[in-house]
Amino acid sequence: MNLTISFQTKMPARSDAVIVPVYRENKLPPAAQKLDKSCGGLISHHLKKQSKFKGDRGQILTIAAPRSVPCAHIILAGLGEALKLDLPACEAAGGKAFLALAAAGAQTATFLTDDMAEAKKVKAAAAAAHMAFGAKLRSYRFDRYKTAKSKDGSKPLSKIIVCPGSIATDKAYKKLDKVAGGIFLARDLVNEPPNMLYPDSFAKRIQRELTPLGVEVEIFDEKKMKKLGFGAHLAVGQGSAFKPRVVVMRWHGGVGKKGKAMKSPLAFVGKGLTFDTGGVNLKPTGGVEDMKYDMGGAASVVGLMKVLAARKCKTPVVGIVGLAENALDGSSYRPSDILRSLSGKTIEVLNTDAEGRLVLADALTYVQRNYKPRFVIDLATLTGAIVVALGAEYCGLFSNSDKLWEQMDRAGAASGEPLWRMPLNESFSRELDSHIADVKSIGNLGRNAGSSIAACFLERFIEDKTPWAHMDIAGVAFAKSEKPFCPKGSGTGFGIRLLDRLIADHYET
Ligand code: BES
Ligand code: MN
Ligand code: ZN
Repeated sequence: MNLTISFQTKMPARSDAVIVPVYRENKLPPAAQKLDKSCGGLISHHLKKQSKFKGDRGQILTIAAPRSVPCAHIILAGLGEALKLDLPACEAAGGKAFLALAAAGAQTATFLTDDMAEAKKVKAAAAAAHMAFGAKLRSYRFDRYKTAKSKDGSKPLSKIIVCPGSIATDKAYKKLDKVAGGIFLARDLVNEPPNMLYPDSFAKRIQRELTPLGVEVEIFDEKKMKKLGFGAHLAVGQGSAFKPRVVVMRWHGGVGKKGKAMKSPLAFVGKGLTFDTGGVNLKPTGGVEDMKYDMGGAASVVGLMKVLAARKCKTPVVGIVGLAENALDGSSYRPSDILRSLSGKTIEVLNTDAEGRLVLADALTYVQRNYKPRFVIDLATLTGAIVVALGAEYCGLFSNSDKLWEQMDRAGAASGEPLWRMPLNESFSRELDSHIADVKSIGNLGRNAGSSIAACFLERFIEDKTPWAHMDIAGVAFAKSEKPFCPKGSGTGFGIRLLDRLIADHYET
């Protein structure tokens, strides 16, 4: 069931649980003081009698409520220091509160957010809205393949009332709810198994999801891709029974006409390997199990397009995803094959598991030559090396533009999707010089500098100094452990919050 979030000026007569955000000083906000009084000082008693809960960021204390108050549980959610409170901290508190509510078996909850006005860096309305947003993001579930109901028959949390609500909180949350819609779509796509979501079904799903929102969706099948010359992308998919596709998504942003050329849009490119076996360079057991999420970049691009259309973004944006399955078969491409890419550059394949960069190369060429974008940003689960370097904490970011990097860095920090800049450089790029073709698909350094060399490969397909950024999301696209904003074992939809914010802050006025 869906979690609905609403805002009220007065506290509702009853709900299963009341959430009280508390700063580090453990000072109770006025509404909580009232609640404290009506339960005979139970809350302040708990705050004094135990020493673990200090109102630190992410801390939770669940108290069973007495009969005198109309709720079963009172849950204190730590916000840390009031001076330091930022929006990602509000979201984390909301996510943690959601988990505590689920543990308490609550179906309805009231968030008492009046104290959030004390924060210095964020407005009270935004803080409350983002706390609700955090709970919403954490409420995501993917249970479409479960046929049996949960054993204990308990029902999930279905309703949160934020109190006191204002027109400003309501407005702030309505925008965030659209972002959640895009993130949930991206997560659903990642979580679909590769026997259900393959290039053709993925393409059709994109069409089904985005066309009703006013996004123009164009699908290139194999025949069209051959005609256009997507030689690198086609090679990656040739060993699979599921044939490759390219999907182009256009949001006109109220500028120009539908069906007509777009004037310098922003461009987003996604890697969409619906499964990556490695091909002839077959991945070993332990390395292949997660590879359904190798389309996480494409999923985030689709989710972003959904958000932009839902909120009627005022700038033109084009999204393109390269879809393929990297499978092993008699017709698979081989190490030492030489491919002619869409750009005209020839590529010497030296490892069939370095397939993402081949798909991206053609998509990058296509979008630059056909759209002349203001910038192009690609998202890809590109290298295991970025997971070694940055784990699940940061997305690796490579860019040829300091300005674009700075804008993205700020958007990332503000949206709780942090980036870490990684180097592109000449000597990494020279690793890719081939004696028999224009470029090799991998260098000679083995595992060393794997993420940078992959990025340098992509850079060779950037034309006319187009501002470009490459997000290597291999470590952050899938939640291997529980996150405050995402359940374990699910796609995250990484990048959607950051990029939506980047556009709103710098490219929409
Ligand atoms: N899809 C993988 C990268 C990956 C690894 C994503 C782990 C998520 C988790 C990519 O196609 C790949 O196989 N990269 C190789 C490149 C190598 C052959 C140069 C890698 O990282 O080992
Ligand atoms: Mn691979
Ligand atoms: Zn891959």
